Amino acid sequence: MAQQILNIGSMNIDHVYQVPHFVSPGETLTSCSYVRNAGGKGLNQSIALARAGVNVAHGGKIGPDGVFLKELLSSEGVDTSSVLIGDMPTGHAIIQVDSSGQNNIILYPGANRQLTRAELVGMLSSTPDGSWILLQNEINEIPFILEEAHAHGLHIAINPAPCGPEVLTYSLQLADVLFVNEIEGAQLANLPSTASAKEIASLLSGLFPSLEIILTLGSEGALYQYGNMQIFMQAEQVKPVDTTSAGDTFTGYFLAAKLRGKTPQEAMRIASHAAAITVTRKGAAASIPRGDEVFL
Ligand code: RIB
Repeated sequence: MAQQILNIGSMNIDHVYQVPHFVSPGETLTSCSYVRNAGGKGLNQSIALARAGVNVAHGGKIGPDGVFLKELLSSEGVDTSSVLIGDMPTGHAIIQVDSSGQNNIILYPGANRQLTRAELVGMLSSTPDGSWILLQNEINEIPFILEEAHAHGLHIAINPAPCGPEVLTYSLQLADVLFVNEIEGAQLANLPSTASAKEIASLLSGLFPSLEIILTLGSEGALYQYGNMQIFMQAEQVKPVDTTSAGDTFTGYFLAAKLRGKTPQEAMRIASHAAAITVTRKGAAASIPRGDEVFL
C-alpha cells in the first residue's frame, strides 16, 4: 500500500507521576508511582494511525537518548526513514496523573524543535502526490511546513496543540482538517472561555470555511462542523484511568476513518470509541487501541 500520511511531529519521553492531587504552588508532593513512557503528540498520533491500519510515515527529530522511540514506531509498522537523530536531548514531558485520571503536562521540546528547513524539504519532497500531512504544535517551522505542503498539493490536517499565541499567526486556512479542544478553539476564535462549543465551532467554520473543524470536548464528546453541517458525538461513558493521548487517539482514528471513505458521522463515532478505550488504560502510546478493537 502506498504511503497515505506523513506525520511530521514530536516524539517525547513521558515521565509520568501518579499523584493524589496536582501539586500546588510551593508544595512538595510525593508521587505514588513513576513510569517512563513513549509519548509526544506526534508519536501518539502516528501510532493511532498505524494501529488503525493506515500506511503512515513519521518525520521528526530525537536525540541519542530517544532511539527507542524510533524503534517503537518501526515496530508498529510506521516508516521511520524521516526520523532524524540530532545532538540535542529528546523532547520530554513531565506528566502528573491524579486519582480521577486527569493529567497536567510540562513539556521540554528538546530535539523536536531542532528541525531545519532543508530537512523538512527533504521529507516533503519524498511524499507521494495526493497524500496527507499531519501536524501538531510541538515542533518548529510549522508556518513553513504549511506553506510547503500546500505548494506540493498535499492535504493537510493540523492539531495545533499546545496552542500558544503563535498559532494565531499560522496560515490555518491552508489546511483541510483542524482538530482543537474547546480551550484551543475559543483562543483561535477569539471567544471567551465561557463560549459554547456550538458557538466556537460555528465561528471557526466562518473563519476557515474550507476546513472540516473537529472540536474535542473531553468527557462531553466532540463536535464536527463543515459549512452548515454540525455533528455532535456524545462521549461513551467510561471510568477514566488516564486521559493522556485520548485526543491523539481521536485524531488518528478520525483521519483513518476518513481515509477509508467513512462519512463524518461514522468517523466521529469510530474516533470517539477509540478515545473512550484509551482513557480506560494507562500511558500515552501504550493505551491506544488496535484497529480490531475499534472497527467492530
Ligand atoms: O497528548 C499527550 C502527549 O502530550 C503526551 O504523550 C506528552 O508527551 C505530550 O506531548
